Amino acid sequence: MKLVHVVGARPNFMKVAPVLRAGQAVPGISQVLVHTGQHYDPSMSDSFFRDLDLPAPDVNLGVGSGTHAEQTARIMLAFEPVLDRETPDWVVVYGDVNSTVACALVAVKKGIRIAHVEAGLRSRDRGMPEEINRILTDQLADLLLTPSRDGNENLAAEGIPAGRVRLVGNVMVDTLLRLREEASKRRMPERFGVEGSDYAFVTLHRPSNVDDRSTLSELLGALDDLGARMPVLFAVHPRTRRRISEFGLPAPNGPVRLLDPLGYLETVNLVDGAALVLTDSGGLQEETTVLGVPCLTARPTTERPVTITEGTNRLVASRRTAIGEAVAELLARRAGGSFRPGQPEGWDGRAGERVIAALLESGTTVAPTT
Ligand code: UD1
Repeated sequence: MKLVHVVGARPNFMKVAPVLRAGQAVPGISQVLVHTGQHYDPSMSDSFFRDLDLPAPDVNLGVGSGTHAEQTARIMLAFEPVLDRETPDWVVVYGDVNSTVACALVAVKKGIRIAHVEAGLRSRDRGMPEEINRILTDQLADLLLTPSRDGNENLAAEGIPAGRVRLVGNVMVDTLLRLREEASKRRMPERFGVEGSDYAFVTLHRPSNVDDRSTLSELLGALDDLGARMPVLFAVHPRTRRRISEFGLPAPNGPVRLLDPLGYLETVNLVDGAALVLTDSGGLQEETTVLGVPCLTARPTTERPVTITEGTNRLVASRRTAIGEAVAELLARRAGGSFRPGQPEGWDGRAGERVIAALLESGTTVAPTT
């Protein structure tokens, strides 16, 4: 069985790693790793390959940044000849980034079967580019591998036959559990002089938060307030850094430290030791749940509801006062000892193996549905 795995952006890399490893352990599976090049800065891509022990990509499409249409179109044009050359049994796509939907669309028209890892998540906010990518990819996929039971329910509600859907659990948690110990050796809190004391870890990069001047200004104000309580380590996405300077907003300083994007192990190490995390990332909502770290997600919706019902996550409006109130409440709850690591079904470190098992069970012989 031949698999072409497609990754492109930062959150894909920790998801493909356990699937590749599980595939390597099965004789008779051959695997090709394609990097679209959607993310290309060393700090957004290469450092993840190193931290995750990923093999260098077999193919790098080198598409880079652009508008959604430009980026998606460039990925499609560059991916088509790769499929012609490799003729895989399956294209395996991950998550909800532009690379995911672009490559699924190329594969489906060529009659090559698609497996979608992290299928079924829905925020029900069609203003998010990721939500469009999720809906379309799930419509195209032949095998839909969900991280949590709500994913199966969402797919059933959209009329996707249950026979195409498997609950495999969360592949990102495989990576987190495998590398948590290794991450602790980075001693990041010591590097920032916050070891043994409370500190907050922050990431913010969603267009809805950072592309609007007044929202970004509210969020930076909230960081100043948070900085009055404890040191704040803010790992800044390139998009966010550009917006702060374009909008002429005063960059936070003093107790709020602006950091370049961090590697995977550095991030896990800082999250693991944090008193709280403030974020709009999808992955950090899941990682904080598993690590038992309180998390505030600055978004009106989440596609990952189990991080609230079974984890440590809470949604908060992207407003200075709302965040201030939520921080106060969360720190009071934390003082009362009410945060514990959560383990939703299938978030157990074995999801990558279940992805490979589902692919083997689905086989190579069934003709693609057209
Ligand atoms: C993408 C994903 C998002 C994910 C995020 C993680 C989509 C639609 N969105 O958003 O779901 O949470 O990755 O980071 O696919 N840039 C660089 N260097 C890079 C990559 C990007 O400077 O290596 C800058 C460029 O100015 C670029 C901007 O970031 O235009 C946005 O990059 P893009 O890949 O379009 O989307 P992200 O915001 O990173």
